[in-house]
Amino acid sequence: MTDKSQDLSRWVEKRLPIVSSFRREYVDFAMPKNLNYLWNFGAFATISLGMLLLSGIFLALNYSPTVSDAFSSIETMDRQVASGWLVRSIHMGGVSMLFAALYVHVARGLYYGSYKAPRELIWLTGLGLLLMVMITAFAGYILPWGQMSYWGATVVVNAFNTVPLIGKALTSWLMGGEGLGNAALHRIYVLHFLTAFSIIGVVALHIATLHVAGSNNPTGIDPESSDETVPFHPYYTSKDGLGLCFFLIVYAVIVFFAPDFLTLAENYVQANPLVTPQDITPEWYFAPFYAILRAVPSKLGGLILATGSIGVLFAVPWLDKSPVRSAKSRPLLRPALLMLFFSFMALGFAGMHPPAGGWLWLSRVAVFYWYLYFLILLPLQSRGETASSLGFAKEGRE
Ligand code: HEM
Repeated sequence: MTDKSQDLSRWVEKRLPIVSSFRREYVDFAMPKNLNYLWNFGAFATISLGMLLLSGIFLALNYSPTVSDAFSSIETMDRQVASGWLVRSIHMGGVSMLFAALYVHVARGLYYGSYKAPRELIWLTGLGLLLMVMITAFAGYILPWGQMSYWGATVVVNAFNTVPLIGKALTSWLMGGEGLGNAALHRIYVLHFLTAFSIIGVVALHIATLHVAGSNNPTGIDPESSDETVPFHPYYTSKDGLGLCFFLIVYAVIVFFAPDFLTLAENYVQANPLVTPQDITPEWYFAPFYAILRAVPSKLGGLILATGSIGVLFAVPWLDKSPVRSAKSRPLLRPALLMLFFSFMALGFAGMHPPAGGWLWLSRVAVFYWYLYFLILLPLQSRGETASSLGFAKEGRE
């Protein structure tokens, strides 16, 4: 650095200590020594989000949010715009990568008890992010105006219509009319763009809360001395970097070799309000919630169960009363939690099949277990658990 640039950086630093703050939070920040690769998934989610926002800007340059032009503007991007297919593939593949990273990220949090004090706000801001990502993805899926876009949106609008008293008025107010038309498509486009970029602010909040409490770790026991920590850089920049190489390889394979592997062929047919597809199937990342929506005969009941399945996650820090964080040290909780993960996957498979016979029953059993775990097993099991009953010398420490 020359003397002049050093003077300039000192001048800026005195007025806005941005370099020293960055150093404190992202270079010297003390991290537990023993984090495993499951702690990479927050970084994976951040990178996927970055790729989505960047590719989304380029897609927006060519997209037309009208019922007559939306589908053809996407086709033009895929077939005529230079590298348009690539940008679209990065965007579509990015959504799957983001959801995959998020589901593992949430499962990691549940397993290691990262929602427990003092990290409740990290958990709550994370759930806020999950909801925002879901809203953004759902709105985005409607934009190409294919058959699945149209009919998927219709299923959700119909579900909201069943809300007593306000349902119909609310959807028609939000959609700008009774049916899905130009007004609705415009609003959905604005919603997609707006929520997508607002996510950045909430991620900043999520990381800020994380940096107050510090990272949890696989033992669930907070480090007590500097012997048990290492600085974020170079230890975790390199560990995250290595993990990212693998993550990006999988992402690249999807983008370059299987851009349509995770999407439905039906959405390459333009929306037709007069022809209902034989099966309305969501993208894989919404399948578990779609299965819950259809698990009971009542539409309103399905809506309550599906929204409640995420709602209950907000209460987890208070439902789990155990002083011990990590499921590694909770032999009774571990199998129950693994069953919960299986139930979520079972719901995912059920959501991709017609709601009849075995698939319907599988989704019913799985949704029953989802609520059983959070409302009964977790609170009851944690109530009898004390640190000493699990062989810990004092609460929260081995
Ligand atoms: C766009 C969405 C999200 C992004 C970009 C994101 C990003 C991150 C990052 C970078 C970290 C630090 C690295 C790590 O621990 O993996 C982190 C930690 C954390 N996140 Fe997220 N996150 C998101 C969504 C969520 C969700 C949905 C939840 C749970 C409901 C959540 C809960 C947590 C928790 C509890 C931690 C602290 C974990 C620990 O130290 O054990 N996050 N997040």
